[in-house]
Amino acid sequence: MNQTENINANWPGLIEAYKSWLPVSEKTPIVSLKEGGTPLIKLHSISTLIGKDVSIYAKYDGLNPTGSFKDRGMTMAISKAKEEGCEAVICASTGNTSAAAAAYAKRGKMRAFVLIPDGYVAQGKLAQALVYGAEIVAIKGNFDRALEIVQEASKKYPITLVNSVNPYRLEGQKTAAFEIIDCLGDAPDWLCIPMGNAGNISAYWMGFEQYYVAQKATKLPRMMGFQASGSAPLVLNKTINNPETIATAIRIGNPVNKEKAIQARIKSKGTFLDVTDEEIIEAYKLLASEEGIFCEPASAASIAGLLKRKQEIPNNSVIVCVLTGNGLKDPDCAIKNNEAIFHSNIEGNLKEIATILGF
Ligand code: F0G
Repeated sequence: MNQTENINANWPGLIEAYKSWLPVSEKTPIVSLKEGGTPLIKLHSISTLIGKDVSIYAKYDGLNPTGSFKDRGMTMAISKAKEEGCEAVICASTGNTSAAAAAYAKRGKMRAFVLIPDGYVAQGKLAQALVYGAEIVAIKGNFDRALEIVQEASKKYPITLVNSVNPYRLEGQKTAAFEIIDCLGDAPDWLCIPMGNAGNISAYWMGFEQYYVAQKATKLPRMMGFQASGSAPLVLNKTINNPETIATAIRIGNPVNKEKAIQARIKSKGTFLDVTDEEIIEAYKLLASEEGIFCEPASAASIAGLLKRKQEIPNNSVIVCVLTGNGLKDPDCAIKNNEAIFHSNIEGNLKEIATILGF
């Protein structure tokens, strides 16, 4: 093998990497884009801001092949659907699930149907679903309604549901917890994570518990789940009929995995808290401008929540904040929310430019 072929050859994708922990067999046709194996990045400025002796890391899952953690669940869901002979998959989505479902379904030679809330899916995500060749239905209604419809559709027609009610999704997503422990050598003290349909927090908890039972970690983290204030059914402990937030990925009023998430909170002695859109945008800008990490607004909820809880952070603790999606998913939000100095309509001559730059 020559040098060029060797590049990127060492990460086999998460099913290969964690096969013995996943419900796959020799017969499972693995549909993979080499997802997982994402970096854990130390957040120096945010640690300083907290002003205690803490190690804070971002698990940057926005670096997955379609730009979000959904790829972890989708490689499993689509591989198992393929194993079962399925020819079409369906999901409801605020955007990222639809992008991942479309990419993996197409790679597995299946049709992908996606239902999205009309007008509430970020541009990057919509662009992905279009280009991957999904069959998209934008409904007059929110994510919760779309999920009810696809659940019914998958019961009536020969289509596999790939939302996080599909147990294989959570199986794939739990590998992020394995990666964190494999990287740190133990579980963190806190895991900070945004919650929408609450599948991811449930998947992480499953992963942390399994590694703990197998003695690959000496402790379990406190699960700190964060929601946007206008869309916080788990914090308020009630269904929200008209959820609203700038973080459209987590604009969900009736999370389908709520029972699992509540169990994770109770067992881990964690907490759920809401963060306002302003706090989310503050954290979003801070991550980009101080740490050089561009995530989407929903992901920044984990940092916003951490900052809101900073009084309670124990000294010498290790904290991981999950950055679930890439900032490029939602360019409109970035363009509207930044403090960049942008000089436009300038003649292309150095003298003028140097003056503007203050030289
Ligand atoms: N962060 C991002 C970027 C997401 O896209 C989602 C969910 C979440 C966090 C919340 O994860 O639902 O497991 O609690 N997005 C789904 C979608 C709903 O359709 O893409 P969760």
